[in-house]
Amino acid sequence: MRVTIFGTGYVGLVTGTCLAEVGHDVVCVDIDQQKVDGLNRGVIPIYEPGLEPMVKANHAAGRLKFTTDAASAIGHGEIIFIAVGTPPDEDGSADLKYVLAVARTVGEHIERPAIVVNKSTVPVGTADKVRAAIAEALARRGAQVPFEVVSNPEFLKEGDAVNDCMRPDRIVIGSGSPEAIEKLKRLYAPFNRNHERIVVMDVRSAELTKYAANAMLATKISFMNEIANIAECVGADIEMVRQGIGSDPRIGWHFIYPGAGYGGSCFPKDVQALARTAQQCGYKPELLEAVESVNYRQKGHLFELIQRHYGGSVAGKTFAVWGLAFKPNTDDMREASSRRLLAQLWEAGARVRAYDPEAMHEARRVFGERDDLVLCDSAHAAIADADALCVVTEWKQFRSPDFPRLRSSLRDAVIFDGRNLYHPDQVEGAGIAYYAIGRGRSVNKP
Ligand code: UDX
Repeated sequence: MRVTIFGTGYVGLVTGTCLAEVGHDVVCVDIDQQKVDGLNRGVIPIYEPGLEPMVKANHAAGRLKFTTDAASAIGHGEIIFIAVGTPPDEDGSADLKYVLAVARTVGEHIERPAIVVNKSTVPVGTADKVRAAIAEALARRGAQVPFEVVSNPEFLKEGDAVNDCMRPDRIVIGSGSPEAIEKLKRLYAPFNRNHERIVVMDVRSAELTKYAANAMLATKISFMNEIANIAECVGADIEMVRQGIGSDPRIGWHFIYPGAGYGGSCFPKDVQALARTAQQCGYKPELLEAVESVNYRQKGHLFELIQRHYGGSVAGKTFAVWGLAFKPNTDDMREASSRRLLAQLWEAGARVRAYDPEAMHEARRVFGERDDLVLCDSAHAAIADADALCVVTEWKQFRSPDFPRLRSSLRDAVIFDGRNLYHPDQVEGAGIAYYAIGRGRSVNKP
């Protein structure tokens, strides 16, 4: 089928590539000429495992094209995806300006009946606004072209996006039009194997489904972080508690890892946006507000442990920081817990030597040149000339460090582990003081 995708960010690029991979004829549109030129030369603007060879192969096969020419791209697609960003505006609501700009462009250029599919994460009711924007642009040029607007939210995880897209656990289609539903079922047939993955519903339910999924996952994490903080107070070990509850299938093993808080482009933004939507309806979303505020506090927790260790004074200390990306296998630093930690360390007069396997380029962009930051090219380089080590992202390569080497390298022989990567006995056995999340050997036992 002929598919057009607006937006070559995570969602648009991965979706377009996977649709091309199963044989569809895909044109991706972006307003960023440099990005489009790069993609046409095989330069992938994001780090995402498995994506680059797939983009190159499908581009070479002629099934995946990149352009800035919106008009001809709209002429190409019988199905037109909107996969542009919805950044939060000042009050945390999702800003729809890019989505609606695409809708207007579609209305200005469609000549043949088309199905417009919204893949961006958008507040409930956006499909109606997209429909209105297209209709208005059509009316302005005096044209009458039938079109449908469908909600088809994306559930891919960064770092595993290609896999999620090629093997989705569900495909949500929100539409009231039997023809549109049929067409999308045909589009997704290659992904709908072995058992039925397509869930058809009305547009508003599909829009809410995306937020419900992300808010539920964020809730699990904030819940575990809260229990971890209580574990610290009472002298319990959250890692034992986690193992004690995960085997209950009603709770499950996934997304119950305590840590330095959740980040990324989805959870923080989507929990906020859902809360704003609820407030706009006159409903006070107490649980969502708590999920958000627990997460904010959690992002500062590692620094609290640091302050506690140093008796409130870290001025002049140098901290090695392992991990800057918001999670492993990505170079994305949006809402990353590392950003808060670094800001707090700098504010307190400390210096930072940071290393991340993929996010160094992004770190340079985010932080710029500063006297109190050294961006290092290896984990070892970061610990050289440092007083203490903070682990903020659970990259595999940080999981089994050479503890004797750390012991001799770190002047104060202390590790602050924001992702519970090590066993306390192992670290302390090597003569290193160890602080982790919710493993309260220390404090405030009642
Ligand atoms: C998420 C959803 O998983 C995905 O389905 C949706 O489409 C987009 O949002 P993503 O933001 O890529 O994907 O990352 P994810 O792997 O879900 O992790 C989000 C954050 O939660 C990370 O900062 C991670 O470190 C944190 N996390 C995750 C925890 O702190 N504990 C956990 O148990 C799991």
